[in-house]
Amino acid sequence: MRGKMWIFSSADHSKYVLSIWNQWCLYYAAVVCLLLSPIRAEDACPYSCTCARDSGTVTCGDGEDTEVPGDIPEWTSTFILKGGNISTLQRGAFTTNGTELEMTTLSLPFNGIQAIEPYAFLGLPRLHLLDLSHNQLESISARAFHGLPELRSLFLNHSVLPCAAAQLSNALSAQSLRNLHRLELAGNKLKSIPLSRFDIYNLHVLVLINNSIESIGWENVTNLYQQRRMRVYLSLNPFRCTCELEAFYYWLKNSSQCPDAGSLLCREPEARRGIPVEKLRGEDVDCMNENLEAVSYVFLGLVLALIGVVFLMVLYLNRGGIKRWLNNIREACRDQMEVYHYRYEQDSDPRLANVAV
Ligand SMILES: *[C@@H]1O[C@H](CO)[C@@H](O)[C@H](O)[C@H]1NC(C)=O
Ligand SMILES: *[C@@H]1O[C@H](CO)[C@@H](O)[C@H](O)[C@H]1NC(C)=O
Ligand SMILES: *[C@@H]1O[C@H](CO)[C@@H](O)[C@H](O)[C@H]1NC(C)=O
Ligand SMILES: *[C@@H]1O[C@H](CO)[C@@H](O)[C@H](O)[C@H]1NC(C)=O
Ligand SMILES: *[C@@H]1O[C@H](CO)[C@@H](O)[C@H](O)[C@H]1NC(C)=O
Ligand SMILES: *[C@@H]1O[C@H](CO)[C@@H](O)[C@H](O)[C@H]1NC(C)=O
Repeated sequence: MRGKMWIFSSADHSKYVLSIWNQWCLYYAAVVCLLLSPIRAEDACPYSCTCARDSGTVTCGDGEDTEVPGDIPEWTSTFILKGGNISTLQRGAFTTNGTELEMTTLSLPFNGIQAIEPYAFLGLPRLHLLDLSHNQLESISARAFHGLPELRSLFLNHSVLPCAAAQLSNALSAQSLRNLHRLELAGNKLKSIPLSRFDIYNLHVLVLINNSIESIGWENVTNLYQQRRMRVYLSLNPFRCTCELEAFYYWLKNSSQCPDAGSLLCREPEARRGIPVEKLRGEDVDCMNENLEAVSYVFLGLVLALIGVVFLMVLYLNRGGIKRWLNNIREACRDQMEVYHYRYEQDSDPRLANVAV
C-alpha cells in the first residue's frame, strides 16, 4: 500500500515537474523568439559592414572582402561595397536562396571586378542605379544585365578594359535595359559608341568623355538625330578632323545634342591638332572639296605630261627637218659672218676712208 502510494505520488510528482518544465520551456522559447528573432531578421548587419536602418543603407568594404556578403538585410535599399577584392560577380550574387531584395541602389566601385557572369544581378527587380565604376572588367557576359527592368542609371566609368569593349556592346543590348536613362562610360578607351541601337532604351544622357573615339560616322549621326531628347558628352576624345567627320561636324553645329561641343578638339591631322572641332570651316570637312582638289591636281599633272610627250614626239618625227633647219641656220650665220667680215675689211681700209672724206 505504502509502495503503491509512493509510486502514485512519484508519478504525480513527475507529471507535475514535466508540466512545469514544459511551461518553462515554452516561456523560454517565447522569450528567445521575442528577443532574438527581431535582432536576426531586422538588425543583423553583415560582417564588416555598417548599417543605417533609417535610411536603408548598408555600407561595406575594408579592402578584405573577396565576396559579396551573403546576408544582405531585406530592408536594404542602398547597398555600397567599395574597395574590396572581388574578381567575379557570380550569378545571383545579391540573392539569398532566390529571395528578391527591394534594393534600389547598388554601388560597387573600386572592387577589382574582372568578370560579370550571366544573371549576376538576379533578384533585384527594383534596382534603379548600378555603379560599377573603377573596376577592371575583362569579361562581361551578354546576359550580365538581365533582369533589371527598372534600371535607370548605369555607371561604368574607368572600368571596361579594351578587350571587353565588344562584350560590353553585347551586354548593353539586353532588352531588359529598356528604362535606361543615363549611361556613363567615361575613361574606357572606347573607339566607338558601344551601342548597336539607341531606340531600345529611354536614354537621355550618354557620357563618353575621355575615350578613344576618333570619328563618329554618318550612320551613328543619323540615329542620333532621331533621339531628339538624348544628350551625348564627348569631350577628351582624339577626333580626326578629316572629311570623314563631315556628318558629325554638322550634327554638332545643328542639333545642340552635345552639351560639351565647345570643348571637342582635333587630335589629327597634325596641322589641325588642338583646333576645336566646332571652329573648323565647312570646307575643311567637305569630302567633295577634298576630292575635287585631288582630282584637279591629278588632271593638271596628266595634261602637263601629255604636252611633254607631244613635244618630244614632234621633235622626234621632225628630226630630219630639224637637222636641215639647223644646217640652214648655220649656213645663214656663216653668210652673215662673211658679210660682216667683208664690211669690216672695207671699213678698215684707210685709203677708202680718205676717198670718202
Ligand atoms: C585578391 O584576392 C586574391 C584571391 O582571391 C588574391 O590572390 C589577391 O592577392 C588579392 N589581391 C589583393 C590586392 O588583395
Ligand atoms: C538556403 O537554402 C539552403 C538549402 O538550399 C538551406 O540549407 C539554407 O538554410 C537556406 N538559407 C536561408 C537563409 O533560407
Ligand atoms: C562616373 O561615375 C560616377 C559614379 O561613380 C559619377 O559620379 C561620375 O559623374 C561619372 N562620370 C565621370 C565623367 O566621371
Ligand atoms: C582619362 O582616362 C584615363 C584612363 O583611361 C585616366 O588615366 C585619365 O586620368 C583620364 N583623364 C581625365 C582628364 O579624366
Ligand atoms: C554606330 O556605329 C557603329 C560602327 O559604325 C555601328 O556598329 C553601330 O551599330 C552604330 N550604332 C548606332 C546606334 O548607330
Ligand atoms: C545642318 O546640317 C546640314 C547638313 O546635314 C547642313 O546642310 C545645314 O546647313 C546645317 N544647318 C545649320 C544651321 O548649320
